[in-house]
Amino acid sequence: MINRSPIGIFDSGIGGLSIARRIREILPNENLLYIADSAHAPYGEKSESYIYQRSSSIVDFLLEHNAKVVVIACNTATVSSIQKLRTNYSVPIIGVEPGVKPAAFKTRSGIIGVLATTQTLKSNSFNALADSFSSHVKIEVQPCPGLMEQVEVLNLDDDKTEQLIKKYVTPLLARGADNIVLGCTHYAFLVPLIRKIAGPNVEIINTDLAVANETARRLGTANLLTTSTIPGNDEFWSSGSTHVAQKQISLLWGEPVKVLQI
Ligand code: DGL
Repeated sequence: MINRSPIGIFDSGIGGLSIARRIREILPNENLLYIADSAHAPYGEKSESYIYQRSSSIVDFLLEHNAKVVVIACNTATVSSIQKLRTNYSVPIIGVEPGVKPAAFKTRSGIIGVLATTQTLKSNSFNALADSFSSHVKIEVQPCPGLMEQVEVLNLDDDKTEQLIKKYVTPLLARGADNIVLGCTHYAFLVPLIRKIAGPNVEIINTDLAVANETARRLGTANLLTTSTIPGNDEFWSSGSTHVAQKQISLLWGEPVKVLQI
C-alpha cells in the first residue's frame, strides 16, 4: 500500500519550517501538511492551557485532513501540551525539546546556555529535563521575548535582531557557556547572527535533524512510510494573513508556495 496520507506539522508560526525542511530532505516522497498558527502567536508568552487548546484544535484539523502522524515543530507547544495530546489522541505525536542532552555531552566548560521562550523555560517539562542533567552540567537559561517576532517578519539579519541576540547571548557567554541550545524552532533561522555573536568556539545546538529522524523512525515502526517513488507535495495553511504567510514561507522554503487560510 502506497500511503499518501500527509505528515502533519505545526508551529505557532513559521519557525517549524526549520523542522519541516529536514523532514522534506530525509523523506522526499512523503506529503507534508504544515500549519502556521500565526494568528495566535507568539505562544511563548501564553498560558499552558491556552497553548493546549490551540494545539488540540490544530491536531483536530490535521486529523480531518488525514494526517498519519503529527509533528509538533514548536518547543513551547511540546512542553505545554504533548503529554495531554498523547493521552487524548491515538495518532503518533512527535515533539521537539531543547537539546540539553546533546549539549551536555559536548560541553567542555561544563556550562551550557539555553535560549527559549518564557513559557518553555518555566514549564515543568523543561525543568524536569534540566534537572536530569544538573548533576553533570550547569544550565544557564535565557528567555528571549521579541526574538521569534523578528523571524516572523523576516528580519533575519537587521540591527534590531542583532541587538536582541547580543542582549540574550552575551550573558550566557559571560557565564562560561560553550554550547548554546536553540530551544525555539524560530531561532534556527538566526544561526548566522548567533554564530557571529557567539564566535567560532561556541557550539550551537539545534535539534531539527533529530526530530526529522525520529519522525522517519516512528513512521517506519508503525508501518506508515509511503512506498511511493514520486516526490511528495507540500501543503501550507495559516491562521493569519495568507498574503503575509505566502511571502514568509516562500522565502524560507526556497521556492514560491501557495498558503491556504484556516
Ligand atoms: N517556535 C516556537 C518554539 O519552538 C515558539 C515561538 C512562540 O510562539 O513564542 O518554541
